[in-house]
Amino acid sequence: MEKRDELYAGKAKSVYLTDDPDRYIMVFRDDTSAFDGQKKEKLARKGMVNNRFNAFVMEKLQAAGIPTHFERVLSDTESVVKRLDMIPVECVVRNFAAGSLCRRLGVEEGLALNPPTFELFLKNDALHDPMINESHAAAFGWATESDLATMRTLSFRVNDVLKALFDQGDMLLVDYKLEFGRFGNEIVLGDEFSPDGCRIWDKSTRKKMDKDRFRQDLGDVIETYEEVGRRLGISFD
Ligand code: TMP
Ligand code: ASP
Repeated sequence: MEKRDELYAGKAKSVYLTDDPDRYIMVFRDDTSAFDGQKKEKLARKGMVNNRFNAFVMEKLQAAGIPTHFERVLSDTESVVKRLDMIPVECVVRNFAAGSLCRRLGVEEGLALNPPTFELFLKNDALHDPMINESHAAAFGWATESDLATMRTLSFRVNDVLKALFDQGDMLLVDYKLEFGRFGNEIVLGDEFSPDGCRIWDKSTRKKMDKDRFRQDLGDVIETYEEVGRRLGISFD
């Protein structure tokens, strides 16, 4: 596969065109950002760790019958993905209260959420990713009612697969953000799944093992991402 021009550079990943109009190369960089890009740093090995982490999780989801854009790892920091028409809405599922939910509703961090919550956010840094609901998404044409129903169903199916996976490594999947796109008529999971876009806690100590280590200056960010991966059976050598 031939790598062509850069199409788009996000805060932590870049997307390149290829000789196949339906395939992109996704490059995981070492750049790390938080708070809508206000806090930025380069963390050595992060691109490689997140590329392998994402490949492992996407393959598990695919094996469970959830359609994803992931096709194959190309190099340490690159993967081949299907070209999706992205839906600019982020889907967040929460099993425990943390982050913006605690700030918004004044609930204590760590409160178990049964059933888990499902929230939508508009993907827009300038507006700080405001929370939206399904009627906004439909009214502004970001996603149809039918797309939204599929996104919600797939988001909860991801929860079933990944809660069990993290549990096997003595970890809690606290919350996570997913992005979807269209490939032909199908709604497909896009973007990435890595410790950058979810919260993971150790089951017994509740030690934070995700990007909150970077947001909250807790240290050992990538070392901890690697520990999460190793507990799932991923090798980073
Ligand atoms: P929040 O608590 O800030 O709303 O985030 C919930 C989860 O979704 C958390 O794991 C971080 C992730 N997330 C992102 O990775 N990017 C985003 O833009 C948003 C809104 C959430
Ligand atoms: N990665 C996003 C940003 O840079 C969201 C976050 O994780 O805080 O703002």
